[in-house]
Amino acid sequence: MTATLTVVPLPTDHRLRPGDDLAGVLLAAVADAQLTLADGDVVCVASKAVSLVEGELVDLPPEVEDPREARRELARRHADGIVAESPWVVITRTPQGFVAANGGIDASNVDDGRALLLPRDPDASAARLRAELATRTGVEVGVIVTDTFGRPWRVGQTDVALGVAGTAALRDERGTGDLDGRPLEVTEAAVADAVAGAADLVRTKASGTPFALVRGLEQAGPPGTGRDLVRPLTEDLFPVGGPTAAERAVEQRRTLRRFDPDRPVPERILAAGVRAAATAPAPHGTRPWRFLRLRRHTRDALLDAMATRWRTDLSADGLAEERIERRIARSDAVLRVAPELLVPFVSLEDGHDYPDQRRRTGERDLFMLSGGAALQNLQVVLAAHGIGAAWISSTAFCPDTVRAQLELPATWQPLGMVAVGHPADGPPPPRGRVPVDDLLQLR
Ligand SMILES: Cc1cc2nc3c(=O)[nH]c(=O)nc-3n(C[C@H](O)[C@H](O)[C@H](O)COP(=O)(O)O)c2cc1C
Repeated sequence: MTATLTVVPLPTDHRLRPGDDLAGVLLAAVADAQLTLADGDVVCVASKAVSLVEGELVDLPPEVEDPREARRELARRHADGIVAESPWVVITRTPQGFVAANGGIDASNVDDGRALLLPRDPDASAARLRAELATRTGVEVGVIVTDTFGRPWRVGQTDVALGVAGTAALRDERGTGDLDGRPLEVTEAAVADAVAGAADLVRTKASGTPFALVRGLEQAGPPGTGRDLVRPLTEDLFPVGGPTAAERAVEQRRTLRRFDPDRPVPERILAAGVRAAATAPAPHGTRPWRFLRLRRHTRDALLDAMATRWRTDLSADGLAEERIERRIARSDAVLRVAPELLVPFVSLEDGHDYPDQRRRTGERDLFMLSGGAALQNLQVVLAAHGIGAAWISSTAFCPDTVRAQLELPATWQPLGMVAVGHPADGPPPPRGRVPVDDLLQLR
C-alpha cells in the first residue's frame, strides 16, 4: 500500500466552450498550481467540462413550462429506457448505459433554456485526453471522467467514474481470503469511483474546478474502463425492485372519490396505464379491451342520458325524487369533476359462439373478467404515478344507453366508468395489513 495519497484541486478561470483545447486548459491549470504531471498521476475531469468542449449542449423542450419537468422530459427523450419514475425525478438508463437521475442531464451554469448531456463516449474522451497529455508532456497519466450521481439507497450524491483510461476501474478481490482465510465471493472494489469521490472532496460545484490531480495512487489492477463499472442490465435489480415492489404497487391503489379538477393528467401517464391494461390475460389470446377517453361535451351528453335512465329505474323502484337527485348529485361529484373520464369496454367480437345459453354466458363472463384484470392493471400503474382513479359501476347498468349515445356496436360491453385525476386531498392513507385467512381456504 502507498503511504500517502494527495488530491490537488486544479481550478481554472477559463469558461469552457465547444471546441476548446481541454488538454491545454488542464496543463495551464497544472502549471498555475505550480505542479508538473508525473508518470502514475491520475487526472480527474468533471464530465461537464468534457461535454462542454465536445458540444453536448441541447435545447430544453420549449413547450414544457416548468424547468424541472423540462429536464425530466429531455431525459426521457434521450433515454434508452426509463428505470424508475416518481413525480419529482425520472431515473433513466442513458444510451451510454448509465443509470442516472434525470439522465445525468445538467442545466446548471448553462444558458436558460439549454442543458448539457453526458459525454457521448466517456471512455473515448478519457483515452483521447490521456493520449493528448502524453504527446504534449511525455508523461503517462491515468484519466477519469467523473460525474455526480445519487444512490437509490443512500442520501446524498457522490462522484463516480463515467470514463476511465490508463488506470484501474475495479480491484477484483474475488477468490482471495479475508483475515480468517474465508474466500471473498463478491468483493470488487470500485476504485475508479472512489478516486472520483476523492476528487469531489477538493472542489465544490461553484468553484470553477473541473480538474483534480490524484498523486500516489497504487494501481490496483490492470487499466480498466468506465464500462467495467456499468452493471449489466441482467444483474440490475433497481428497475425490478424485487417481489415486494410489486406487492407495494398493488397495495397503493385506492378508490379515489375527490379529484383536483384543475390539475390535468399527463398524457404519458394515461398512456402508461392503458399499456399496462393491455397486458392483462384474455381468453383465446384476444385483445378485447377498449377505452374511450371522453371529451367534455361527450362526457356531459353521456352522463345526462345515463341520468335520465337512472331516474326512470329508481322511480320504478319506488325511490322518492329527493333521494334520486341526491344519488345523482353524489355520482356527478365524481364523474363530472374528475379531469379525465374513461369508459372501459370489452369487445366480444372474438369470443367463441355456442349454441346454448350456459356456455354463451360462460364465454361472456370470461371476457368480462379479462376487462376487470385490465382495469386493475390500469389503476395500479396510475396509482404508482400518484394519480388516483375511481372505478364506478354506472354504465354497467345501462349498456344500451351507452352504446346508443356513443354509437357503438352491440358487441361492446361497458364495464362502468373510470374517473382519473390527481387527488384533491393529497395521497390516500396507507391501506394497512389486509387479512386473508378467511379468503384462502383449503379443501
Ligand atoms: C366493478 C366495480 C364497481 C364499482 N363501482 C363503484 C361505484 O359505483 N361507486 C363507488 O363509489 N365505488 C365503486 N367501486 C369501488 C369500490 O367501492 C371500492 O373498490 C371498495 O370500496 C374498496 O376500496 P379500495 O378500492 O380503495 O380498495 C367499484 C368497484 C368495482 C370493482
